[in-house]
Amino acid sequence: MAIATATTGDGWSSRSAFILAAIGAAVGLGNLWRFPTLAGESGGGAFVIFYIGCVVLLGLPLLLAEIFIGRAGQTDAVGSIRRVARESRVSPAWTIFGWIGALAAFLIVSFYSVVAGWVLYYAGVFAGDFVGALAAGDPFRGALAGESQEQIATRLTDLFASPGLLLAMHAAFMGGTLYIVARGVSGGIEKAATFLMPAFFVLLISITIYGAFVGDIGEAAAFLFTPDWSALKPEVMNSALGQALFSLSLGVAGIITYGSYIRQGTRLGSTALAIAFADTAVALIAGLMIFPIVFAVGLDPAAGPTLVFQTLPFAFEAMPAGALVGMLFFILVLVAAITSSISLLEVPTAWAIGELGWTRHKAALVFGIGAFLIGVACLLGYNVWADVRPLGWWSLFADTDILDTVDGFTGKIMLPLGALLTSIFIGWRADRRLLETTTGLSRPVFALWRFLLAWLCPLAVAIILVTGLFPAII
Ligand code: PFF
Repeated sequence: MAIATATTGDGWSSRSAFILAAIGAAVGLGNLWRFPTLAGESGGGAFVIFYIGCVVLLGLPLLLAEIFIGRAGQTDAVGSIRRVARESRVSPAWTIFGWIGALAAFLIVSFYSVVAGWVLYYAGVFAGDFVGALAAGDPFRGALAGESQEQIATRLTDLFASPGLLLAMHAAFMGGTLYIVARGVSGGIEKAATFLMPAFFVLLISITIYGAFVGDIGEAAAFLFTPDWSALKPEVMNSALGQALFSLSLGVAGIITYGSYIRQGTRLGSTALAIAFADTAVALIAGLMIFPIVFAVGLDPAAGPTLVFQTLPFAFEAMPAGALVGMLFFILVLVAAITSSISLLEVPTAWAIGELGWTRHKAALVFGIGAFLIGVACLLGYNVWADVRPLGWWSLFADTDILDTVDGFTGKIMLPLGALLTSIFIGWRADRRLLETTTGLSRPVFALWRFLLAWLCPLAVAIILVTGLFPAII
Protein backbone atom coordinates (compact mmCIF):
# COMPACT_ATOMS: atom_id res chain seq x y z
CA MET A 1 0.00 0.00 0.00
CA ALA A 2 1.29 3.45 -0.80
CA ILE A 3 2.04 5.73 2.10
CA ALA A 4 0.10 8.95 2.13
CA THR A 5 2.29 12.04 2.22
CA ALA A 6 1.28 15.35 3.63
CA THR A 7 0.37 17.12 0.44
CA THR A 8 -0.25 14.73 -2.36
CA GLY A 9 -1.68 11.65 -0.69
CA ASP A 10 0.49 9.71 -3.10
CA GLY A 11 3.80 7.91 -2.72
CA TRP A 12 6.06 5.03 -3.77
CA SER A 13 4.59 1.62 -3.16
CA SER A 14 7.92 0.16 -1.99
CA ARG A 15 11.58 0.93 -1.34
CA SER A 16 12.57 -0.69 -4.61
CA ALA A 17 10.07 1.50 -6.46
CA PHE A 18 11.78 4.57 -5.04
CA ILE A 19 15.23 3.22 -5.90
CA LEU A 20 14.17 2.47 -9.47
CA ALA A 21 12.55 5.87 -9.92
CA ALA A 22 15.54 7.65 -8.43
CA ILE A 23 17.93 5.69 -10.63
CA GLY A 24 15.66 6.63 -13.51
CA ALA A 25 16.00 10.28 -12.51
CA ALA A 26 19.76 10.06 -12.16
CA VAL A 27 20.47 8.04 -15.28
CA GLY A 28 19.84 10.24 -18.26
CA LEU A 29 21.41 12.22 -21.06
CA GLY A 30 24.08 13.11 -18.51
CA ASN A 31 25.27 9.50 -18.40
CA LEU A 32 24.86 8.51 -22.01
CA TRP A 33 25.72 11.74 -23.77
CA ARG A 34 27.55 14.17 -21.49
CA PHE A 35 29.74 11.74 -19.58
CA PRO A 36 31.24 10.00 -22.64
CA THR A 37 31.56 13.39 -24.34
CA LEU A 38 33.47 14.88 -21.43
CA ALA A 39 35.58 11.77 -20.93
CA GLY A 40 36.38 11.77 -24.64
CA GLU A 41 37.29 15.44 -24.72
CA SER A 42 39.25 15.34 -21.47
CA GLY A 43 41.52 12.47 -22.36
CA GLY A 44 39.74 9.62 -20.58
CA GLY A 45 41.33 7.97 -17.54
CA ALA A 46 42.31 10.86 -15.29
CA PHE A 47 38.92 12.50 -15.80
CA VAL A 48 37.09 9.25 -15.07
CA ILE A 49 39.04 8.53 -11.88
CA PHE A 50 38.62 12.06 -10.62
CA TYR A 51 34.91 11.86 -11.45
CA ILE A 52 34.52 8.69 -9.39
CA GLY A 53 36.23 10.45 -6.47
CA CYS A 54 33.74 13.32 -6.77
CA VAL A 55 30.81 10.92 -6.71
CA VAL A 56 32.04 9.14 -3.60
CA LEU A 57 33.19 12.14 -1.57
CA LEU A 58 30.67 14.78 -2.66
CA GLY A 59 27.85 13.20 -4.60
CA LEU A 60 27.01 10.48 -2.14
CA PRO A 61 26.84 12.72 0.98
CA LEU A 62 24.74 15.27 -0.91
CA LEU A 63 22.46 12.60 -2.27
CA LEU A 64 21.80 11.34 1.24
CA ALA A 65 21.27 14.92 2.43
CA GLU A 66 18.58 15.49 -0.21
CA ILE A 67 16.89 12.15 0.44
CA PHE A 68 16.91 13.03 4.14
CA ILE A 69 15.26 16.41 3.61
CA GLY A 70 12.50 14.86 1.52
CA ARG A 71 11.97 11.98 3.91
CA ALA A 72 11.88 14.24 6.95
CA GLY A 73 9.79 16.93 5.28
CA GLN A 74 7.24 14.69 3.53
CA THR A 75 6.16 17.34 1.09
CA ASP A 76 7.47 19.41 -1.85
CA ALA A 77 11.06 20.69 -1.70
CA VAL A 78 10.29 24.14 -0.31
CA GLY A 79 7.85 22.80 2.27
CA SER A 80 10.25 20.00 3.24
CA ILE A 81 13.13 22.38 3.86
CA ARG A 82 10.80 24.64 5.84
CA ARG A 83 9.81 21.74 8.04
CA VAL A 84 13.39 20.56 8.65
CA ALA A 85 14.36 24.17 9.41
CA ARG A 86 11.48 24.49 11.87
CA GLU A 87 12.34 21.25 13.63
CA SER A 88 15.96 22.36 13.77
CA ARG A 89 14.90 25.78 15.09
CA VAL A 90 16.71 27.69 12.34
CA SER A 91 15.51 30.40 10.01
CA PRO A 92 12.90 29.53 7.37
CA ALA A 93 15.04 31.58 4.98
CA TRP A 94 16.82 28.30 4.20
CA THR A 95 13.89 27.47 1.96
CA ILE A 96 15.70 29.63 -0.59
CA PHE A 97 17.53 26.60 -1.95
CA GLY A 98 14.22 24.86 -2.47
CA TRP A 99 13.14 27.82 -4.59
CA ILE A 100 16.40 27.83 -6.49
CA GLY A 101 16.07 24.10 -7.06
CA ALA A 102 12.48 24.23 -8.24
CA LEU A 103 13.26 27.04 -10.64
CA ALA A 104 16.39 25.28 -11.90
CA ALA A 105 14.52 22.03 -12.47
CA PHE A 106 11.85 23.91 -14.43
CA LEU A 107 14.51 25.60 -16.60
CA ILE A 108 16.53 22.42 -17.10
CA VAL A 109 13.55 20.38 -18.27
CA SER A 110 12.89 23.00 -20.95
CA PHE A 111 16.15 22.40 -22.82
CA TYR A 112 16.52 18.78 -21.70
CA SER A 113 13.37 18.09 -23.70
CA VAL A 114 14.83 19.82 -26.76
CA VAL A 115 17.94 17.62 -26.67
CA ALA A 116 15.79 14.55 -25.97
CA GLY A 117 13.85 15.62 -29.07
CA TRP A 118 17.02 15.18 -31.15
CA VAL A 119 17.31 11.69 -29.70
CA LEU A 120 13.68 11.02 -30.60
CA TYR A 121 14.38 12.14 -34.14
CA TYR A 122 17.37 9.81 -34.44
CA ALA A 123 15.38 6.94 -32.93
CA GLY A 124 12.83 7.57 -35.70
CA VAL A 125 15.47 7.76 -38.44
CA PHE A 126 17.10 4.54 -37.33
CA ALA A 127 13.76 2.78 -36.83
CA GLY A 128 12.79 3.74 -40.38
CA ASP A 129 16.15 2.52 -41.60
CA PHE A 130 15.75 -0.77 -39.80
CA VAL A 131 12.31 -1.28 -41.29
CA GLY A 132 13.93 -0.65 -44.69
CA ALA A 133 16.57 -3.27 -43.90
CA LEU A 134 13.85 -5.74 -42.97
CA ALA A 135 11.93 -5.01 -46.14
CA ALA A 136 15.08 -5.56 -48.15
CA GLY A 137 15.47 -8.95 -46.48
CA ASP A 138 18.75 -7.87 -44.91
CA PRO A 139 17.97 -7.15 -41.23
CA PHE A 140 21.61 -7.32 -40.17
CA ARG A 141 23.01 -4.74 -42.50
CA GLY A 142 24.73 -1.57 -41.40
CA ALA A 143 22.71 1.55 -40.81
CA LEU A 144 21.87 4.24 -43.38
CA ALA A 145 23.39 2.07 -46.09
CA GLY A 146 25.15 3.95 -48.83
CA GLU A 147 25.14 7.36 -47.20
CA SER A 148 28.44 9.19 -47.13
CA GLN A 149 29.81 10.47 -43.83
CA GLU A 150 28.97 13.92 -45.05
CA GLN A 151 25.36 12.97 -45.71
CA ILE A 152 25.09 11.47 -42.24
CA ALA A 153 26.63 14.56 -40.65
CA THR A 154 24.23 16.73 -42.62
CA ARG A 155 21.27 15.02 -40.98
CA LEU A 156 22.17 16.79 -37.75
CA THR A 157 22.73 20.18 -39.33
CA ASP A 158 19.51 19.79 -41.32
CA LEU A 159 17.65 18.97 -38.15
CA PHE A 160 19.03 22.05 -36.43
CA ALA A 161 18.04 24.16 -39.39
CA SER A 162 14.44 23.00 -39.24
CA PRO A 163 12.37 24.73 -36.55
CA GLY A 164 9.30 22.67 -37.46
CA LEU A 165 11.01 19.33 -37.00
CA LEU A 166 12.73 20.40 -33.79
CA LEU A 167 9.43 21.71 -32.49
CA ALA A 168 7.55 18.51 -33.31
CA MET A 169 10.14 16.37 -31.53
CA HIS A 170 10.29 18.66 -28.51
CA ALA A 171 6.49 18.76 -28.31
CA ALA A 172 6.24 14.97 -28.47
CA PHE A 173 8.83 14.49 -25.76
CA MET A 174 7.45 17.15 -23.44
CA GLY A 175 3.94 15.82 -24.03
CA GLY A 176 5.03 12.35 -22.89
CA THR A 177 6.74 13.82 -19.83
CA LEU A 178 3.69 15.86 -18.93
CA TYR A 179 1.37 12.89 -19.37
CA ILE A 180 3.36 10.70 -16.96
CA VAL A 181 3.74 13.43 -14.33
CA ALA A 182 0.05 14.29 -14.51
CA ARG A 183 -0.81 10.67 -13.69
CA GLY A 184 0.87 10.97 -10.32
CA VAL A 185 3.62 9.32 -8.31
CA SER A 186 2.49 5.72 -7.97
CA GLY A 187 0.24 5.70 -11.03
CA GLY A 188 2.57 7.54 -13.42
CA ILE A 189 6.19 8.02 -12.39
CA GLU A 190 6.55 4.71 -10.58
CA LYS A 191 4.79 2.74 -13.32
CA ALA A 192 6.99 4.32 -15.98
CA ALA A 193 10.17 3.63 -14.01
CA THR A 194 9.35 0.03 -13.14
CA PHE A 195 8.57 -0.69 -16.77
CA LEU A 196 11.27 1.38 -18.45
CA MET A 197 14.30 0.87 -16.20
CA PRO A 198 14.53 -2.93 -16.60
CA ALA A 199 14.18 -2.43 -20.36
CA PHE A 200 16.93 0.17 -20.15
CA PHE A 201 19.34 -2.24 -18.44
CA VAL A 202 18.62 -5.07 -20.87
CA LEU A 203 19.35 -2.74 -23.81
CA LEU A 204 22.45 -1.27 -22.17
CA ILE A 205 24.00 -4.66 -21.47
CA SER A 206 23.03 -6.04 -24.89
CA ILE A 207 24.59 -3.17 -26.82
CA THR A 208 27.71 -3.28 -24.63
CA ILE A 209 28.15 -7.00 -25.35
CA TYR A 210 27.63 -6.27 -29.04
CA GLY A 211 30.29 -3.55 -28.87
CA ALA A 212 32.67 -5.96 -27.19
CA PHE A 213 32.23 -8.41 -30.05
CA VAL A 214 32.43 -6.09 -33.00
CA GLY A 215 34.67 -3.42 -31.51
CA ASP A 216 37.73 -3.12 -29.38
CA ILE A 217 36.66 -3.09 -25.75
CA GLY A 218 40.27 -3.41 -24.57
CA GLU A 219 41.20 -0.15 -26.24
CA ALA A 220 38.08 1.50 -24.85
CA ALA A 221 38.87 0.28 -21.32
CA ALA A 222 42.45 1.50 -21.64
CA PHE A 223 41.18 4.87 -22.84
CA LEU A 224 38.68 5.16 -20.00
CA PHE A 225 40.81 3.86 -17.16
CA THR A 226 44.47 4.62 -17.91
CA PRO A 227 45.11 7.90 -16.19
CA ASP A 228 47.24 10.54 -17.81
CA TRP A 229 47.40 12.89 -14.84
CA SER A 230 48.81 15.70 -16.94
CA ALA A 231 45.37 15.90 -18.61
CA LEU A 232 43.80 16.75 -15.28
CA LYS A 233 43.69 20.50 -15.72
CA PRO A 234 41.63 22.68 -13.36
CA GLU A 235 38.87 23.08 -15.93
CA VAL A 236 38.69 19.32 -16.34
CA MET A 237 38.34 18.88 -12.57
CA ASN A 238 35.73 21.57 -12.59
CA SER A 239 33.67 19.88 -15.24
CA ALA A 240 34.04 16.51 -13.48
CA LEU A 241 32.66 18.03 -10.29
CA GLY A 242 29.78 19.71 -12.07
CA GLN A 243 29.03 16.56 -14.01
CA ALA A 244 28.91 14.49 -10.79
CA LEU A 245 26.25 16.85 -9.40
CA PHE A 246 24.26 16.91 -12.64
CA SER A 247 24.44 13.17 -13.15
CA LEU A 248 23.19 12.41 -9.64
CA SER A 249 20.42 15.01 -10.13
CA LEU A 250 21.67 17.04 -7.17
CA GLY A 251 21.16 20.70 -6.40
CA VAL A 252 17.80 21.00 -8.15
CA ALA A 253 15.62 19.54 -5.41
CA GLY A 254 14.67 16.56 -7.59
CA ILE A 255 15.91 14.06 -5.05
CA ILE A 256 14.28 16.00 -2.19
CA THR A 257 11.00 15.77 -4.05
CA TYR A 258 11.35 12.04 -4.81
CA GLY A 259 12.57 11.47 -1.25
CA SER A 260 9.38 12.96 0.14
CA TYR A 261 7.41 10.04 -1.24
CA ILE A 262 9.46 7.42 0.64
CA ARG A 263 7.87 5.27 3.32
CA GLN A 264 8.83 5.55 6.91
CA GLY A 265 11.51 3.12 8.05
CA THR A 266 13.34 2.93 4.71
CA ARG A 267 17.10 2.62 5.18
CA LEU A 268 18.32 5.82 3.62
CA GLY A 269 22.09 5.20 3.64
CA SER A 270 22.04 1.99 1.63
CA THR A 271 19.39 3.50 -0.64
CA ALA A 272 21.65 6.46 -1.46
CA LEU A 273 24.53 4.07 -2.03
CA ALA A 274 22.50 1.97 -4.46
CA ILE A 275 21.47 5.04 -6.46
CA ALA A 276 24.97 6.52 -6.65
CA PHE A 277 26.46 3.16 -7.54
CA ALA A 278 23.94 2.50 -10.32
CA ASP A 279 24.31 5.97 -11.79
CA THR A 280 28.10 5.76 -11.89
CA ALA A 281 28.04 2.21 -13.21
CA VAL A 282 25.77 3.29 -16.05
CA ALA A 283 28.08 6.19 -16.97
CA LEU A 284 31.07 3.84 -17.06
CA ILE A 285 29.21 1.15 -18.97
CA ALA A 286 28.03 3.82 -21.41
CA GLY A 287 31.71 4.57 -22.04
CA LEU A 288 32.43 0.88 -22.50
CA MET A 289 29.48 0.67 -24.88
CA ILE A 290 30.24 3.73 -27.01
CA PHE A 291 34.03 3.83 -27.32
CA PRO A 292 34.62 0.26 -28.62
CA ILE A 293 32.22 1.07 -31.45
CA VAL A 294 33.91 4.43 -32.08
CA PHE A 295 37.40 2.90 -32.04
CA ALA A 296 36.38 -0.06 -34.21
CA VAL A 297 35.77 2.32 -37.07
CA GLY A 298 38.80 4.47 -36.27
CA LEU A 299 36.77 7.53 -35.33
CA ASP A 300 37.67 10.35 -32.96
CA PRO A 301 36.64 9.85 -29.32
CA ALA A 302 36.99 13.58 -28.68
CA ALA A 303 34.28 14.68 -31.10
CA GLY A 304 32.46 16.62 -28.39
CA PRO A 305 28.69 16.99 -28.25
CA THR A 306 28.30 15.45 -31.70
CA LEU A 307 29.82 12.17 -30.48
CA VAL A 308 26.40 10.58 -30.14
CA PHE A 309 24.67 12.32 -33.05
CA GLN A 310 27.36 12.12 -35.73
CA THR A 311 30.26 9.91 -34.71
CA LEU A 312 28.09 7.01 -33.57
CA PRO A 313 25.85 7.06 -36.66
CA PHE A 314 29.02 6.87 -38.82
CA ALA A 315 30.05 3.87 -36.77
CA PHE A 316 26.65 2.19 -37.03
CA GLU A 317 26.87 2.47 -40.79
CA ALA A 318 30.06 0.47 -40.86
CA MET A 319 29.04 -2.15 -38.32
CA PRO A 320 27.24 -5.43 -38.88
CA ALA A 321 23.64 -5.12 -37.70
CA GLY A 322 24.24 -1.39 -37.37
CA ALA A 323 20.67 -0.58 -38.43
CA LEU A 324 19.22 -2.67 -35.63
CA VAL A 325 21.75 -1.63 -32.98
CA GLY A 326 21.52 2.03 -33.96
CA MET A 327 17.79 1.95 -33.46
CA LEU A 328 18.13 0.18 -30.11
CA PHE A 329 20.81 2.65 -29.02
CA PHE A 330 18.63 5.69 -29.57
CA ILE A 331 15.67 3.99 -27.89
CA LEU A 332 17.96 3.37 -24.93
CA VAL A 333 18.93 7.02 -24.71
CA LEU A 334 15.31 8.05 -25.07
CA VAL A 335 14.24 5.82 -22.18
CA ALA A 336 16.98 7.28 -19.99
CA ALA A 337 15.94 10.80 -20.93
CA ILE A 338 12.25 10.41 -20.17
CA THR A 339 12.73 8.91 -16.72
CA SER A 340 14.92 11.95 -15.95
CA SER A 341 12.66 14.57 -17.47
CA ILE A 342 9.69 13.37 -15.43
CA SER A 343 11.73 13.85 -12.26
CA LEU A 344 12.56 17.39 -13.35
CA LEU A 345 8.97 18.34 -14.12
CA GLU A 346 7.86 16.74 -10.86
CA VAL A 347 9.81 19.32 -8.81
CA PRO A 348 7.80 22.45 -9.76
CA THR A 349 4.65 20.33 -10.00
CA ALA A 350 5.02 19.10 -6.42
CA TRP A 351 5.86 22.64 -5.35
CA ALA A 352 2.59 24.02 -6.75
CA ILE A 353 0.60 21.15 -5.25
CA GLY A 354 2.21 21.62 -1.84
CA GLU A 355 2.57 25.38 -1.66
CA LEU A 356 -0.28 26.68 -3.78
CA GLY A 357 -2.77 23.88 -3.29
CA TRP A 358 -3.15 23.28 -7.03
CA THR A 359 -4.37 19.97 -8.36
CA ARG A 360 -1.71 17.74 -9.90
CA HIS A 361 -3.25 18.08 -13.35
CA LYS A 362 -3.20 21.84 -13.24
CA ALA A 363 0.34 22.01 -11.86
CA ALA A 364 1.78 19.56 -14.40
CA LEU A 365 0.00 21.32 -17.23
CA VAL A 366 1.10 24.83 -16.26
CA PHE A 367 4.76 23.91 -15.74
CA GLY A 368 4.84 21.47 -18.64
CA ILE A 369 3.55 24.13 -21.03
CA GLY A 370 5.78 26.81 -19.49
CA ALA A 371 8.87 24.66 -19.91
CA PHE A 372 7.76 23.75 -23.41
CA LEU A 373 7.65 27.43 -24.36
CA ILE A 374 11.12 28.13 -23.00
CA GLY A 375 12.27 25.06 -24.91
CA VAL A 376 10.79 26.55 -28.08
CA ALA A 377 12.97 29.62 -27.59
CA CYS A 378 15.97 27.29 -27.10
CA LEU A 379 15.34 25.42 -30.33
CA LEU A 380 14.73 28.60 -32.30
CA GLY A 381 18.19 29.61 -31.13
CA TYR A 382 19.50 26.98 -33.55
CA ASN A 383 17.96 28.66 -36.57
CA VAL A 384 15.77 31.78 -36.71
CA TRP A 385 17.12 33.23 -33.48
CA ALA A 386 20.67 32.07 -34.04
CA ASP A 387 22.03 35.52 -33.27
CA VAL A 388 20.14 35.99 -30.04
CA ARG A 389 22.37 36.11 -26.96
CA PRO A 390 19.97 36.32 -23.97
CA LEU A 391 22.70 37.21 -21.48
CA GLY A 392 25.00 38.79 -24.01
CA TRP A 393 25.88 41.68 -21.67
CA TRP A 394 27.51 39.24 -19.30
CA SER A 395 30.99 38.22 -20.40
CA LEU A 396 30.39 34.66 -19.23
CA PHE A 397 27.55 34.25 -21.72
CA ALA A 398 28.60 36.83 -24.28
CA ASP A 399 28.70 34.41 -27.16
CA THR A 400 26.25 31.81 -25.91
CA ASP A 401 23.07 30.86 -27.76
CA ILE A 402 19.72 30.48 -26.01
CA LEU A 403 19.91 26.78 -25.15
CA ASP A 404 23.49 26.97 -23.92
CA THR A 405 22.64 30.05 -21.88
CA VAL A 406 19.83 28.27 -20.03
CA ASP A 407 22.08 25.22 -19.66
CA GLY A 408 25.07 27.26 -18.50
CA PHE A 409 23.11 29.45 -16.12
CA THR A 410 21.44 26.50 -14.41
CA GLY A 411 24.50 24.22 -14.51
CA LYS A 412 27.17 26.71 -13.59
CA ILE A 413 25.25 28.85 -11.13
CA MET A 414 21.93 27.53 -9.86
CA LEU A 415 22.89 23.90 -9.44
CA PRO A 416 26.15 24.47 -7.51
CA LEU A 417 24.43 27.16 -5.45
CA GLY A 418 21.64 24.74 -4.55
CA ALA A 419 24.20 22.06 -3.66
CA LEU A 420 26.29 24.50 -1.64
CA LEU A 421 23.34 25.63 0.46
CA THR A 422 22.15 22.04 0.92
CA SER A 423 25.51 20.96 2.27
CA ILE A 424 25.80 23.92 4.64
CA PHE A 425 22.22 23.48 5.82
CA ILE A 426 22.59 19.79 6.58
CA GLY A 427 26.27 19.95 7.58
CA TRP A 428 25.87 22.83 10.04
CA ARG A 429 22.31 23.83 10.75
CA ALA A 430 20.02 20.80 10.76
CA ASP A 431 19.12 19.23 14.08
CA ARG A 432 21.43 16.35 14.90
CA ARG A 433 18.78 14.18 16.54
CA LEU A 434 16.47 14.57 13.56
CA LEU A 435 19.30 13.63 11.22
CA GLU A 436 20.24 10.60 13.29
CA THR A 437 16.76 9.22 13.71
CA THR A 438 15.69 9.82 10.11
CA THR A 439 18.79 8.42 8.43
CA GLY A 440 19.42 5.59 10.91
CA LEU A 441 23.13 5.64 10.08
CA SER A 442 25.66 3.95 12.36
CA ARG A 443 27.78 6.31 14.46
CA PRO A 444 31.01 6.28 12.43
CA VAL A 445 29.17 6.55 9.12
CA PHE A 446 27.08 9.39 10.47
CA ALA A 447 30.19 11.24 11.66
CA LEU A 448 31.87 10.81 8.28
CA TRP A 449 28.75 11.93 6.41
CA ARG A 450 28.36 15.06 8.49
CA PHE A 451 32.05 15.86 8.23
CA LEU A 452 32.01 15.62 4.43
CA LEU A 453 28.88 17.77 4.25
CA ALA A 454 30.21 20.36 6.63
CA TRP A 455 33.68 20.76 5.17
CA LEU A 456 34.53 19.04 1.93
CA CYS A 457 31.26 19.57 0.03
CA PRO A 458 30.92 23.32 0.65
CA LEU A 459 34.55 23.89 -0.19
CA ALA A 460 34.52 21.85 -3.39
CA VAL A 461 31.17 23.17 -4.56
CA ALA A 462 32.20 26.75 -3.79
CA ILE A 463 35.22 26.17 -6.02
CA ILE A 464 32.95 25.00 -8.86
CA LEU A 465 30.78 28.03 -8.37
CA VAL A 466 33.56 30.60 -8.26
CA THR A 467 35.61 29.12 -11.08
CA GLY A 468 32.41 28.70 -13.10
CA LEU A 469 31.61 32.37 -12.63
CA PHE A 470 35.15 33.60 -13.14
CA PRO A 471 36.79 31.16 -15.53
CA ALA A 472 39.73 33.47 -16.00
CA ILE A 473 41.12 32.56 -12.58
CA ILE A 474 41.91 28.98 -13.52
N1 PFF B 1 20.69 13.32 -13.84
C1 PFF B 1 20.13 13.59 -15.13
C2 PFF B 1 21.10 13.15 -16.18
O1 PFF B 1 22.21 12.71 -15.85
O2 PFF B 1 20.79 13.25 -17.35
C3 PFF B 1 19.76 15.03 -15.30
C4 PFF B 1 18.88 15.53 -14.21
C5 PFF B 1 17.67 14.91 -13.97
C6 PFF B 1 19.29 16.55 -13.40
C7 PFF B 1 16.88 15.30 -12.91
C8 PFF B 1 18.52 16.94 -12.35
C9 PFF B 1 17.31 16.30 -12.10
F1 PFF B 1 16.56 16.70 -11.10
